Amino acid sequence: MTKVVHEKSELRAACDAVRASGGRLGLVPTMGALHDGHLALVAEARRRGATHVALTIFVNPLQFGPNEDFDRYPRTLEADVARCRDAGVDLVFAPPRDGMYPPGFQSEVQVTKLTTRLEGAFRPGHFTGVTTVVAKLFMLAGPCVACFGRKDYQQWKVIERMARDLDMPIDVVGMPTVRESDGLAMSSRNRYLSTEERERALGIARGLRAAHAAYGAGERDAATIAEMVRSEIAPRFDSIDYVDVADADTLEPFPSAIEGRAVITVAAKIGKTRLIDNTVLGED
Ligand code: PAJ
Repeated sequence: MTKVVHEKSELRAACDAVRASGGRLGLVPTMGALHDGHLALVAEARRRGATHVALTIFVNPLQFGPNEDFDRYPRTLEADVARCRDAGVDLVFAPPRDGMYPPGFQSEVQVTKLTTRLEGAFRPGHFTGVTTVVAKLFMLAGPCVACFGRKDYQQWKVIERMARDLDMPIDVVGMPTVRESDGLAMSSRNRYLSTEERERALGIARGLRAAHAAYGAGERDAATIAEMVRSEIAPRFDSIDYVDVADADTLEPFPSAIEGRAVITVAAKIGKTRLIDNTVLGED
């Protein structure tokens, strides 16, 4: 049975009750418009020992810039709840628009170094919005295993860092990206794409595959690999924010040759739709 609650106090009470009865809580924060990538996080939480899973749905205004898609972000609560029922989610927390931040709200949680590059550079304030809302959700949920997607690679690393730095009693888990059969990373924003744009969007997956092939053949020059990815994306997208090759843990760029595990991150636009994706090189 999936219970749907809208009040923060109800989320807190339900999470406390899970632990009081000897259960282990799994937490899956989302902004809704659920797809199989989100539901894979629910399954992962169970695989990690969660006896009860709470999924939260909140389009967080704090993490959207003034010219971003906050107003047009898909809001599909009824369909989301139906998907949660099918996936056996125990609790859905869907606060109203003004239900997360009290009047006069003026506190924020910020991870510094990890947020300066990549998404942090192109979306000023974005990560502070993310860490602030996720910290609030962690405070409400209490000790749990919280699952995030590596699709948002930097976000996962930033949240992991926040939990460690601030002694949050949360086990932060990163789940590999779930893709469509043709390689497109699942995203709530894919529904903005027309059929023709969706076809073009495959340029990212093609670029990342080419990078893997080159790495497998022994290529270790970061700039060469980045250029290879860029050359698949540039002809198909309207603009590229970045194609970056960095250390997979620190997200610092390599001076030249890749050493250890590397992550290639990409952000690019087709029309008004901004897509991000990544892949890790050197993972077994
Ligand atoms: P949202 O974009 O809804 O994503 C919710 C979670 O699902 C994130 O952890 C994201 O990385 C993961 N996810 C999305 N697409 C995925 C895919 N194809 N495969 C695997 N996981 C995927 O990310 C957010 O919401 C917000 O920033 C949030 C963390 C909820 C804070 O507001």
